Amino acid sequence: MNLLHITDIHFGPYHWDVNDDLVLERLNAFDADIVLNTGDMTSDSLQVEFQQMQGFLSKLECPNVVSILGNHDKYSKRSHEMFREYIYDGRFIHPKDKTKVTKDKLFFSPINMRIGDYFTDVNFLRTFKVNGETVLLVCIDTTLFQSDFGFVEEQILASIKDEIAAIKYDRLLMLTHHPILDSDEDPLINTKRMTDFALDIGIEASFCGHTHELEIVELSNIVEGKKFRQFMIGSLCSVNIHRESNMFCTYENFGTPDEVITIVRMFPTDDGVEFVETKLG
Ligand SMILES: [Fe+2]
Repeated sequence: MNLLHITDIHFGPYHWDVNDDLVLERLNAFDADIVLNTGDMTSDSLQVEFQQMQGFLSKLECPNVVSILGNHDKYSKRSHEMFREYIYDGRFIHPKDKTKVTKDKLFFSPINMRIGDYFTDVNFLRTFKVNGETVLLVCIDTTLFQSDFGFVEEQILASIKDEIAAIKYDRLLMLTHHPILDSDEDPLINTKRMTDFALDIGIEASFCGHTHELEIVELSNIVEGKKFRQFMIGSLCSVNIHRESNMFCTYENFGTPDEVITIVRMFPTDDGVEFVETKLG
């Protein structure tokens, strides 16, 4: 299974000043089975930024592209609507018990909003068949409305766990925007709960962005023999951090003895962009 991981593209003011087509050409050169896009597609959750992201994603040749929301994508009351319209219109997972919900602004008033779906969290499952195996992706919305901090609703986790139990799969991966094994000045608030959840459902790996920095870590529960790896990578193209962190990542033969992880850094040049690869054996 070959995975291509992109994150924090930030269309709008944060977007990189390099021709997107050059980046897309390089992305499409990798034979990906699934593309993982871990959020912050926009700078300010504007409609035009979601539309730009839609245009970018439409140029990816891989048919299996999974995108999730980041904190910058959740600045608008209509973020979840724009996600449906421009990114992915699937079935979102609702809280198991709505009366026990603690996450702020998980629902807006349908009367005030004048929209059909006033449930704001974008949690969903996707399955793909790759090399005869069923790969289940658990896509969790860690964002809070108009906040850079993250939080995951307990009642959503309960629903997700129930749904996963009803699905037959061979490999289980998780996507979050905020890292669950690291933090920055705008962290996920309930990281401990999320790492427990990840170990509990038995994920093989989690993929995230948010910090715009590269870090690959493994969490092991030695007593129970459970472990997973978290892949947090730098931004694909945004101008608010050092150039060394402009990157995307490819995972070839992921999770096998032949696995090759390649960090592809991107540096602007006078006539385009230079790609610098670093392979992790
Ligand atoms: Fe970001």
